[in-house]
Amino acid sequence: MELMETGRVRPTRRTLVRAGLGALGSAAILDAGSAVDEEPGLHARARRRGLFFGCEVTRSEFSDPNLRAAILRDCGVLVPGNELKWGLTEGVRDRPTFEAADAMIAFALEHGLKVRGHTAIWHISLPPWVAPALKGPDGLALVDGRVRGLLSRYRGRIGSWDVLNEAVEPKDRRPDVLRESLFLNAFGPDYVDRAFRVAREAAPDAKLFYNDYGLEYFSPGEEERRSGTLRLLAGLRRQGTIDGLGIQSHLKVGNDFRPKVFRRFLAEVADLGLDIHLTELDVNDVRLPSDVAIRDEKGAEHAARYLDAALDERAVRGVVTWGLSNRYTYLTSPPYRRADQLLPRALPLDEDMRRTPLWSALARALDAAPDRPPG
Ligand code: XIL
Repeated sequence: MELMETGRVRPTRRTLVRAGLGALGSAAILDAGSAVDEEPGLHARARRRGLFFGCEVTRSEFSDPNLRAAILRDCGVLVPGNELKWGLTEGVRDRPTFEAADAMIAFALEHGLKVRGHTAIWHISLPPWVAPALKGPDGLALVDGRVRGLLSRYRGRIGSWDVLNEAVEPKDRRPDVLRESLFLNAFGPDYVDRAFRVAREAAPDAKLFYNDYGLEYFSPGEEERRSGTLRLLAGLRRQGTIDGLGIQSHLKVGNDFRPKVFRRFLAEVADLGLDIHLTELDVNDVRLPSDVAIRDEKGAEHAARYLDAALDERAVRGVVTWGLSNRYTYLTSPPYRRADQLLPRALPLDEDMRRTPLWSALARALDAAPDRPPG
């Protein structure tokens, strides 16, 4: 591969790509504008090292044939971003709907992609009826049923699950560092072990993950979140119901990343016998000026330092970005969006599905990663 000084991949031969056939019908031929060169995609490169690469996508974004084609070029793993969350699968109690997730999962499997399931238990994106129901007499059965129903439904289709998302919160100042969520308030800290026990029973072949953010940087708060997370993981490990940690990896240029500190944390997780997935990588560029070239350069540089440290740990088995194209990123939503209202340069492809310097940073980090045993 020929890399220019900026980290951009020099286009070799441009070609039209036929894609998006199959599950969603119609022969979608990419616009000439989204033509790409023929460098191997990110998953192909990851696979050479025994790793995977994938992305998150939502159902509405998924109707864009250019995005589907881009996913097929770069990804070996697909994550439905919202469609498996409780708020979307059961907006009305006892009327589960899985159409959106099923369509995306069918597409992934037909094209040979694997699926990460996100997420069985989270204190956000809940249907409105859940909060009051948890306090009722069948509250526990309700949560058991959610975990069991979801994981057993996708047995054989979803190989890895974020069983529990964001359950650690040092700001809540509990000795066990658990978040004061509505689950904790209803059932006490045992709800964590219980969710994983039920998940293991429901899908004995699936890899079960705990997933969280705020684990990446050097700060007192993140240090506390790392130690709280290790404590939670150790408990689940003793119980034998967890296989891995998902580190969300929502990066922010300007934050203090210390490779040694992060690397030590990864080693501690690996010492528990757990796998690690980077599950939601994107790059927040709100602290950078509008200039695209500057944002691309600084963002790629920041991500490269992070990825080099992360992929050096063999327990890290792969990377998922939260979105694939800057056209579709949750970083445009209010708390995160840029003051100048420009699209963030957050993801490996630009809004026309062209590769950005972040794509090149990912490609180089994957190329340089030590080989993993196949698994
Ligand atoms: C986000 C989605 O991207 C948004 O579309 C949705 O409105 C809110 O959730 N951490 C997680 C993800 O684990 O589920 C979140 O996804 C982003 C932060």
